[in-house]
Amino acid sequence: MTPPNSQDVQTLFNDIAPIYDQMNDWLSFGIHRVWKLMTVKWSNPQPYNTALDLCCGTGDLTFLMAKQLVKGKVIGVDFSSQLLAKAQKKQPFKSLNSEIQWLEADVLSLPFDNNYFDCATMGYGLRNVTNISACLQEIQRVLKPNSKVAILDFHKPSDNWVANGQKWYLDKIVVTIADLLGTPSEYAYIYPSLERFPNGETQIQLGLNAGFSQGIHYPLFGGIMGVLVLTK
Ligand SMILES: C[S@@+](CC[C@H](N)C(=O)[O-])C[C@H]1O[C@@H](n2cnc3c(N)ncnc32)[C@H](O)[C@@H]1O
Repeated sequence: MTPPNSQDVQTLFNDIAPIYDQMNDWLSFGIHRVWKLMTVKWSNPQPYNTALDLCCGTGDLTFLMAKQLVKGKVIGVDFSSQLLAKAQKKQPFKSLNSEIQWLEADVLSLPFDNNYFDCATMGYGLRNVTNISACLQEIQRVLKPNSKVAILDFHKPSDNWVANGQKWYLDKIVVTIADLLGTPSEYAYIYPSLERFPNGETQIQLGLNAGFSQGIHYPLFGGIMGVLVLTK
């Protein structure tokens, strides 16, 4: 399957906006919330920080960051107007500890000055951008020195049994459920995108090539997910 271009990715995510949150909860049995909380913590938010959530979609990580971060500001950026519209209507917590701003923009060309953010998160975005190296360079550019970005995404496990189980789950269960909800082809893209996605070790190398000084990749759930933490 050929990789989609930016316009295809935008259309795909606009199309699945009505069922996106529901699918995440069903397909991960709600565990994605724990992975997202770990991602926020690994980005090392501190009081009064300005944080960036890249490819924020419906804003799960943005809201978690705004809950964790005391008296700060979080900017959620995505190019899907439909997912951002969903984010703006959500109220997952009774109160937040920081202000949120939503911004429709391409993460490959961020409208921010160099060294602007104190920490950043990205959930299931790096696998979907059309140029991973350019994306990492852009994140590196807008982060302050010594700041961290924590990037959560699917990962190909090294164990063959687990890898086969993951493929079966994504190809059969996920696509079948998406079919019932009327969006099979949109969810059929997940496995091919994972096959193209570099493993943790290569992700670290790409981060270092993009100018980060340190990188570590934490495999989660038997390696079917992972969090890449890069320090500028
Ligand atoms: C799988 S969703 C993840 C949403 C959310 N972060 C989450 O964890 O649920 C991937 C998101 O990346 C966004 N995206 C992909 N490429 C992008 C780009 N170049 N610029 C901005 N957003 C992008 C899509 O619009 C979509 O909202």
